[in-house]
Amino acid sequence: MRLGLIGSGNMARAMARGWGDPVLCTDVLPARARALAAEVGGEAVETNGQLAEQAEAVVLCHKPAQLEAVAAEVAGRARGVVSILGGVPLEAVKHAYPDIPAVRMLPSTPVEVNRGVCLHARDGEEDEAFTRAVIERFDRLGPVVTLDEEQLDTAMGLMSNAPAYYALVAEAQVDAGVRRGLPADLAAELVVGTMGGSAELIRRRGMDTLAVRREVTSPGGSTARGLAALERHGVRTAFDAALAGVLGEQA
Ligand SMILES: NC(=O)c1ccc[n+]([C@@H]2O[C@H](COP(=O)([O-])OP(=O)(O)OC[C@H]3O[C@@H](n4cnc5c(N)ncnc54)[C@H](OP(=O)(O)O)[C@@H]3O)[C@@H](O)[C@H]2O)c1
Repeated sequence: MRLGLIGSGNMARAMARGWGDPVLCTDVLPARARALAAEVGGEAVETNGQLAEQAEAVVLCHKPAQLEAVAAEVAGRARGVVSILGGVPLEAVKHAYPDIPAVRMLPSTPVEVNRGVCLHARDGEEDEAFTRAVIERFDRLGPVVTLDEEQLDTAMGLMSNAPAYYALVAEAQVDAGVRRGLPADLAAELVVGTMGGSAELIRRRGMDTLAVRREVTSPGGSTARGLAALERHGVRTAFDAALAGVLGEQA
């Protein structure tokens, strides 16, 4: 399926790098689209209308506020639409793009390295063949998880900010090592390498986080002392509070 990216900003660039295919893209700043096409190959198209004609589906990589304006530009020319617009329900996308198949996907930044979870907001009325083709395409960027739209805000709250959280956790661990005399680059190598390996291990154990903790925690040992310290300093409540903050829940 030949996709046309409308908007060549951060998320378009991350997805284009992940796909690694020649890209078809636009941007209000033509130089931005040209830079993306120069980097990954492909073509920066002059107008959104031309892009829609050349692509089998347009991918909305602009900001949510531009939904109506962009839809007006490609009206009658787009054959299918994939929205990655944050906070815009599928219903609103369908309203802006009546009569063509529409799918709502929410990718995360690690798509750039083909490890980004992509959420697919289920809709009972989707065009099956189109949806399947879109999911196949996004599956190359990382696992696609299908869920109901009501679950989307919480799911996004867990997922989209997580790279920043893990970066903060890594930084805190590295700092702790540096305070005790390890060179920062060595500490970072150890911490980040172990993060990636641990994620894979948890997956291999069927997402059983407790099993993984038990495996490395000998009774009365150093891991038990480390975990107890993390609990004492509120690691669980910190992550719960972070999600509450993201979702705007009242304290
Ligand atoms: N970043 C994420 O982690 C993430 C995750 C999931 C979904 N999303 C969604 O992905 C979309 C893009 O996010 P982003 O972070 O990539 O934003 P971004 O870096 O600002 O990129 C959006 C790009 O679209 C351009 N644009 C604006 N109007 C346009 C038009 N009419 N035609 C063509 N291009 C146009 C913008 O140009 P100007 O800046 O000059 O207006 C900008 O270069 C958003 O809707 C966001 O909700 C983002």
